[in-house]
Amino acid sequence: MNRQSTSDPARICVTNAKGGTGKTTVAINVAGALSDRGRDVLFVDLDPQGNATEGLGLAEAYDAQPPTLFDVLTGDPNGLADLVVEHEEMDVVPSSIDMLQAEHELTVADLIARVRTGDHDVDPAALSAFALNVTPKTVTGDHALDTLDRALSTVPGYDYVVIDSPPFYGKLTDAAVFAAGNILVPALAEATSERAIELLMDQMAALERQTGTSVRTLGVVANRIETTSEDETMLQWFDAAFPDSPVWRVRKRVALQRAYTRGNSLFGSDEECDMSAVFEDIAADLDRQFGYTEIPA
Ligand SMILES: Nc1ncnc2c1ncn2[C@@H]1O[C@H](COP(=O)(O)OP(=O)(O)O)[C@@H](O)[C@H]1O
Ligand SMILES: [Mg+2]
Repeated sequence: MNRQSTSDPARICVTNAKGGTGKTTVAINVAGALSDRGRDVLFVDLDPQGNATEGLGLAEAYDAQPPTLFDVLTGDPNGLADLVVEHEEMDVVPSSIDMLQAEHELTVADLIARVRTGDHDVDPAALSAFALNVTPKTVTGDHALDTLDRALSTVPGYDYVVIDSPPFYGKLTDAAVFAAGNILVPALAEATSERAIELLMDQMAALERQTGTSVRTLGVVANRIETTSEDETMLQWFDAAFPDSPVWRVRKRVALQRAYTRGNSLFGSDEECDMSAVFEDIAADLDRQFGYTEIPA
């Protein structure tokens, strides 16, 4: 079967609420590797800090005038296609400075959904006074986490959508995971990751209960590995904690930082890096997991 015959892109959310674990680096380089394999990729930067937008060389898009991704997530999902920017390796939906307001806005949307579905003596329309865009009309479901999902449905035709998520738990991250249904988890090979992974699994379970959906773990990327005994201990812990998922190993490499500064992935320049092979393995395995079996010519 070649999954390209289906119209829905495979969606992947790269997530781990701990900051600095390599979400943005992994998201950019996995997207770059998929694109290098011939897949059509849409990259979505859902982090209000816009690191991926900058790391793909699109810093000026971050300061674009409205409507931005904020307006799409809080008002008009059909506006997503107009935000897509071309990058030499992939299409990109940039983040925006307005996204700093999104967490608050989606919290109001969540309150509207709850007021409507629960036994509360509150007029949902009155809650709109606390929001810029959100009204009872913009909140269509029985929870308000479907906003990115609805927006992505308006841009079919990609093989993959790769979503970079914020370094915190909240509505944006929940909306990203809900839209994707699949997570790829970068984690540092250090002791702090045990707690980060346990919190992530708790959060995924809570989201599954709230939305009645299931979240699949596509794999773990043990990142910034150096050769120390703590690294070895953690790698064994990852393997034990995720017995059914691949655990890839990305070593600490300055080439990854240079690619970010240049505005592309490792696959967007001629610089050699031994970690390219790991991202190629990840891309090949994702193709396998999503049932894409033929490499396009
Ligand atoms: N494998 C790696 N080797 C070297 N530097 C890395 C590696 N992975 C990430 N970094 C650097 O670590 C910092 C944090 O990574 P980033 O991808 O921004 O994490 P997050 O998105 O989870 O906050 C960045 O400066 C990035 O360039
Ligand atoms: Mg990041």
